[in-house]
Amino acid sequence: MTNVKSEREEYLNKVNEIDFGNEAPKEIDSTDFFTVVKERRSVRHYDPSYQMTDNEIKELLEIAIQAPSSSNLQPWRFLVIKDQDTKQKLLPIANNQQQVVDASVVIAVLGDIKAYKNADRIYDELVEKGMMTQEVKDFYVGSIVKNYGNFPEEVATKVAMIDGGLVSMQLMLAAKAKGLDTVPMGGFDQAKFVEAFNVPENFKPVMLISVGKGVKAGFEKVRLTLDEVVTWEKY
Ligand SMILES: Cc1cc2nc3c(=O)[nH]c(=O)nc-3n(C[C@H](O)[C@H](O)[C@H](O)COP(=O)(O)O)c2cc1C
Repeated sequence: MTNVKSEREEYLNKVNEIDFGNEAPKEIDSTDFFTVVKERRSVRHYDPSYQMTDNEIKELLEIAIQAPSSSNLQPWRFLVIKDQDTKQKLLPIANNQQQVVDASVVIAVLGDIKAYKNADRIYDELVEKGMMTQEVKDFYVGSIVKNYGNFPEEVATKVAMIDGGLVSMQLMLAAKAKGLDTVPMGGFDQAKFVEAFNVPENFKPVMLISVGKGVKAGFEKVRLTLDEVVTWEKY
Protein backbone atom coordinates (compact mmCIF):
# COMPACT_ATOMS: atom_id res chain seq x y z
CA MET A 1 0.00 0.00 0.00
CA THR A 2 1.26 3.41 -0.91
CA ASN A 3 0.63 6.51 1.17
CA VAL A 4 0.55 8.78 -1.81
CA LYS A 5 -3.00 9.98 -2.30
CA SER A 6 -4.26 10.37 -5.82
CA GLU A 7 -5.38 13.86 -6.80
CA ARG A 8 -8.94 12.62 -6.90
CA GLU A 9 -8.73 11.16 -3.43
CA GLU A 10 -7.24 14.39 -2.15
CA TYR A 11 -9.98 16.43 -3.80
CA LEU A 12 -12.75 14.22 -2.45
CA ASN A 13 -11.43 14.19 1.09
CA LYS A 14 -10.51 17.88 1.24
CA VAL A 15 -14.09 18.54 2.23
CA ASN A 16 -13.38 17.09 5.67
CA GLU A 17 -10.73 19.72 6.31
CA ILE A 18 -13.20 22.51 5.79
CA ASP A 19 -14.55 23.75 9.07
CA PHE A 20 -18.27 24.16 8.80
CA GLY A 21 -19.06 23.62 12.43
CA ASN A 22 -20.04 20.59 14.38
CA GLU A 23 -23.75 20.92 14.23
CA ALA A 24 -25.63 17.69 13.70
CA PRO A 25 -27.87 17.37 10.67
CA LYS A 26 -31.22 18.95 11.35
CA GLU A 27 -33.74 16.48 12.72
CA ILE A 28 -36.94 17.01 10.86
CA ASP A 29 -40.22 16.26 12.55
CA SER A 30 -42.17 16.48 9.36
CA THR A 31 -42.25 14.58 6.14
CA ASP A 32 -43.58 17.66 4.40
CA PHE A 33 -42.06 17.50 0.94
CA PHE A 34 -40.68 21.04 0.96
CA THR A 35 -39.05 20.58 4.35
CA VAL A 36 -37.47 17.31 3.26
CA VAL A 37 -36.06 18.86 0.09
CA LYS A 38 -34.76 21.89 1.94
CA GLU A 39 -33.15 19.91 4.72
CA ARG A 40 -31.50 17.19 2.64
CA ARG A 41 -27.81 17.82 2.43
CA SER A 42 -24.87 15.69 1.53
CA VAL A 43 -23.70 14.40 4.88
CA ARG A 44 -20.22 12.94 5.17
CA HIS A 45 -20.03 12.18 8.89
CA TYR A 46 -22.04 9.28 10.26
CA ASP A 47 -22.60 7.44 13.50
CA PRO A 48 -20.77 4.17 12.75
CA SER A 49 -22.73 2.36 15.46
CA TYR A 50 -26.09 3.15 13.89
CA GLN A 51 -27.48 0.13 12.10
CA MET A 52 -30.36 -0.11 9.69
CA THR A 53 -32.40 -3.26 9.45
CA ASP A 54 -32.87 -4.94 6.10
CA ASN A 55 -36.52 -3.96 6.29
CA GLU A 56 -35.67 -0.29 6.77
CA ILE A 57 -33.38 -0.44 3.76
CA LYS A 58 -36.05 -2.19 1.72
CA GLU A 59 -38.59 0.40 2.76
CA LEU A 60 -36.41 3.17 1.33
CA LEU A 61 -35.79 1.25 -1.86
CA GLU A 62 -39.50 0.56 -2.20
CA ILE A 63 -40.16 4.30 -2.17
CA ALA A 64 -37.24 5.00 -4.49
CA ILE A 65 -38.46 2.60 -7.17
CA GLN A 66 -41.68 4.57 -7.52
CA ALA A 67 -39.57 6.96 -9.64
CA PRO A 68 -40.43 7.42 -13.30
CA SER A 69 -38.32 5.77 -15.99
CA SER A 70 -38.10 5.74 -19.74
CA SER A 71 -40.93 3.52 -21.05
CA ASN A 72 -41.30 2.33 -17.46
CA LEU A 73 -38.43 -0.07 -18.03
CA GLN A 74 -37.04 0.59 -14.53
CA PRO A 75 -33.41 -0.07 -15.44
CA TRP A 76 -32.21 0.59 -11.87
CA ARG A 77 -30.55 -2.21 -9.99
CA PHE A 78 -29.19 -1.87 -6.48
CA LEU A 79 -26.25 -3.51 -4.82
CA VAL A 80 -26.73 -3.11 -1.08
CA ILE A 81 -23.46 -3.05 0.85
CA LYS A 82 -24.13 -3.38 4.53
CA ASP A 83 -21.57 -5.79 5.83
CA GLN A 84 -18.63 -3.97 7.45
CA ASP A 85 -16.00 -6.09 5.71
CA THR A 86 -17.60 -5.42 2.36
CA LYS A 87 -17.67 -1.68 3.09
CA GLN A 88 -13.95 -1.91 3.91
CA LYS A 89 -13.40 -3.55 0.57
CA LEU A 90 -15.22 -0.67 -1.10
CA LEU A 91 -13.33 2.03 0.82
CA PRO A 92 -10.17 2.27 -1.34
CA ILE A 93 -12.25 1.91 -4.51
CA ALA A 94 -14.24 4.95 -3.33
CA ASN A 95 -11.10 7.00 -2.72
CA ASN A 96 -11.12 6.31 1.01
CA GLN A 97 -14.14 8.47 1.64
CA GLN A 98 -14.89 7.73 5.26
CA GLN A 99 -18.67 7.82 4.84
CA VAL A 100 -18.36 4.55 2.96
CA VAL A 101 -17.48 2.71 6.15
CA ASP A 102 -19.23 4.89 8.74
CA ALA A 103 -22.70 5.07 7.22
CA SER A 104 -25.03 2.16 7.91
CA VAL A 105 -25.19 1.10 4.32
CA VAL A 106 -23.86 1.99 0.89
CA ILE A 107 -26.26 1.49 -1.94
CA ALA A 108 -24.67 1.18 -5.35
CA VAL A 109 -27.18 2.34 -7.93
CA LEU A 110 -26.64 0.59 -11.24
CA GLY A 111 -28.37 0.97 -14.57
CA ASP A 112 -29.18 -2.05 -16.72
CA ILE A 113 -28.51 -1.16 -20.35
CA LYS A 114 -30.49 -4.24 -21.40
CA ALA A 115 -33.55 -3.32 -19.36
CA TYR A 116 -35.73 -3.53 -22.47
CA LYS A 117 -35.58 -7.31 -22.04
CA ASN A 118 -38.03 -6.92 -19.16
CA ALA A 119 -40.60 -5.12 -21.28
CA ASP A 120 -42.68 -8.27 -21.71
CA ARG A 121 -42.76 -8.92 -17.97
CA ILE A 122 -43.68 -5.31 -17.17
CA TYR A 123 -46.35 -4.85 -19.79
CA ASP A 124 -47.87 -8.29 -19.19
CA GLU A 125 -48.73 -7.09 -15.71
CA LEU A 126 -50.74 -4.25 -17.21
CA VAL A 127 -52.67 -6.74 -19.32
CA GLU A 128 -53.27 -9.00 -16.30
CA LYS A 129 -54.58 -6.03 -14.37
CA GLY A 130 -56.91 -5.17 -17.20
CA MET A 131 -55.19 -1.86 -17.80
CA MET A 132 -54.03 -2.66 -21.31
CA THR A 133 -55.29 -4.93 -24.05
CA GLN A 134 -53.08 -7.73 -25.31
CA GLU A 135 -53.02 -6.04 -28.68
CA VAL A 136 -51.76 -2.71 -27.34
CA LYS A 137 -49.24 -4.53 -25.16
CA ASP A 138 -47.87 -6.44 -28.13
CA PHE A 139 -47.51 -3.21 -30.04
CA TYR A 140 -45.76 -1.48 -27.14
CA VAL A 141 -43.38 -4.30 -26.37
CA GLY A 142 -42.59 -4.85 -30.04
CA SER A 143 -41.77 -1.19 -30.40
CA ILE A 144 -39.64 -1.11 -27.24
CA VAL A 145 -37.65 -4.18 -28.21
CA LYS A 146 -37.10 -2.81 -31.69
CA ASN A 147 -36.00 0.63 -30.49
CA TYR A 148 -34.21 0.05 -27.22
CA GLY A 149 -32.77 -3.20 -28.47
CA ASN A 150 -31.02 -1.34 -31.26
CA PHE A 151 -29.69 1.52 -29.20
CA PRO A 152 -25.92 1.85 -29.36
CA GLU A 153 -24.40 1.24 -25.93
CA GLU A 154 -23.81 4.96 -25.51
CA VAL A 155 -27.50 5.77 -25.90
CA ALA A 156 -28.63 2.87 -23.70
CA THR A 157 -26.18 4.04 -21.04
CA LYS A 158 -27.50 7.59 -21.21
CA VAL A 159 -31.05 6.33 -20.64
CA ALA A 160 -29.90 4.17 -17.72
CA MET A 161 -28.05 7.13 -16.18
CA ILE A 162 -31.04 9.45 -16.44
CA ASP A 163 -33.37 6.92 -14.86
CA GLY A 164 -30.68 6.00 -12.33
CA GLY A 165 -30.37 9.65 -11.35
CA LEU A 166 -34.09 9.96 -10.77
CA VAL A 167 -34.27 6.87 -8.59
CA SER A 168 -31.21 8.03 -6.65
CA MET A 169 -32.74 11.38 -5.86
CA GLN A 170 -35.92 9.72 -4.73
CA LEU A 171 -33.93 7.39 -2.48
CA MET A 172 -32.13 10.31 -0.87
CA LEU A 173 -35.33 12.23 -0.24
CA ALA A 174 -37.00 9.13 1.17
CA ALA A 175 -34.09 8.68 3.55
CA LYS A 176 -34.31 12.29 4.73
CA ALA A 177 -38.04 11.92 5.27
CA LYS A 178 -37.24 8.91 7.47
CA GLY A 179 -34.80 10.94 9.55
CA LEU A 180 -31.69 9.60 7.84
CA ASP A 181 -28.94 11.24 5.86
CA THR A 182 -27.19 10.46 2.61
CA VAL A 183 -24.40 11.46 0.32
CA PRO A 184 -24.32 10.59 -3.36
CA MET A 185 -20.88 9.60 -4.60
CA GLY A 186 -19.48 9.60 -8.08
CA GLY A 187 -15.98 9.60 -6.69
CA PHE A 188 -15.12 5.96 -7.07
CA ASP A 189 -13.24 3.86 -9.57
CA GLN A 190 -15.98 2.34 -11.68
CA ALA A 191 -13.80 -0.27 -13.35
CA LYS A 192 -12.43 -1.48 -10.02
CA PHE A 193 -15.90 -1.46 -8.52
CA VAL A 194 -17.30 -3.59 -11.33
CA GLU A 195 -14.45 -6.04 -10.97
CA ALA A 196 -14.41 -6.24 -7.19
CA PHE A 197 -18.16 -6.74 -6.89
CA ASN A 198 -18.57 -8.94 -9.89
CA VAL A 199 -21.10 -6.55 -11.44
CA PRO A 200 -22.73 -8.02 -14.57
CA GLU A 201 -21.49 -6.42 -17.78
CA ASN A 202 -24.81 -4.81 -18.65
CA PHE A 203 -25.16 -3.09 -15.25
CA LYS A 204 -23.47 0.31 -15.42
CA PRO A 205 -22.64 2.12 -12.18
CA VAL A 206 -24.68 5.30 -11.70
CA MET A 207 -23.54 6.35 -8.24
CA LEU A 208 -22.95 5.13 -4.71
CA ILE A 209 -25.16 6.45 -1.94
CA SER A 210 -24.18 6.25 1.71
CA VAL A 211 -27.20 6.13 4.01
CA GLY A 212 -27.16 6.41 7.78
CA LYS A 213 -27.50 8.56 10.84
CA GLY A 214 -25.54 11.74 10.22
CA VAL A 215 -23.65 13.26 13.11
CA LYS A 216 -22.39 16.38 11.41
CA ALA A 217 -24.46 18.46 9.04
CA GLY A 218 -23.44 19.00 5.47
CA PHE A 219 -22.81 22.43 4.04
CA GLU A 220 -25.62 24.86 4.05
CA LYS A 221 -27.02 24.99 0.57
CA VAL A 222 -25.15 27.22 -1.84
CA ARG A 223 -26.84 27.50 -5.17
CA LEU A 224 -26.58 29.61 -8.26
CA THR A 225 -29.49 32.01 -8.45
CA LEU A 226 -32.47 31.22 -10.60
CA ASP A 227 -31.46 34.04 -12.91
CA GLU A 228 -28.17 32.31 -13.53
CA VAL A 229 -29.71 29.01 -14.47
CA VAL A 230 -33.06 29.81 -16.05
CA THR A 231 -33.75 31.13 -19.52
CA TRP A 232 -37.26 31.64 -20.76
CA GLU A 233 -38.49 30.63 -24.17
CA LYS A 234 -35.24 30.65 -26.16
CA TYR A 235 -31.46 30.81 -25.89
C1 LIG B 1 -23.52 12.51 -9.12
C2 LIG B 1 -22.95 13.07 -7.85
C3 LIG B 1 -21.71 12.63 -7.42
C4 LIG B 1 -21.19 13.10 -6.21
N1 LIG B 1 -20.01 12.58 -5.75
C5 LIG B 1 -19.58 12.91 -4.52
C6 LIG B 1 -18.47 12.23 -3.94
O1 LIG B 1 -17.89 11.33 -4.51
N2 LIG B 1 -18.10 12.59 -2.70
C7 LIG B 1 -18.74 13.55 -1.98
O2 LIG B 1 -18.34 13.81 -0.85
N3 LIG B 1 -19.81 14.20 -2.49
C8 LIG B 1 -20.26 13.89 -3.73
N4 LIG B 1 -21.38 14.49 -4.24
C9 LIG B 1 -22.13 15.45 -3.42
C10 LIG B 1 -22.03 16.89 -3.92
O3 LIG B 1 -20.79 17.41 -3.58
C11 LIG B 1 -23.18 17.68 -3.29
O4 LIG B 1 -24.40 17.15 -3.75
C12 LIG B 1 -23.13 19.17 -3.62
O5 LIG B 1 -21.99 19.75 -3.06
C13 LIG B 1 -24.36 19.90 -3.14
O6 LIG B 1 -24.54 19.74 -1.76
P1 LIG B 1 -25.86 19.12 -1.12
O7 LIG B 1 -25.99 17.70 -1.64
O8 LIG B 1 -25.59 19.13 0.35
O9 LIG B 1 -27.03 19.94 -1.51
C14 LIG B 1 -21.90 14.06 -5.45
C15 LIG B 1 -23.13 14.52 -5.93
C16 LIG B 1 -23.66 14.02 -7.10
C17 LIG B 1 -25.02 14.49 -7.53
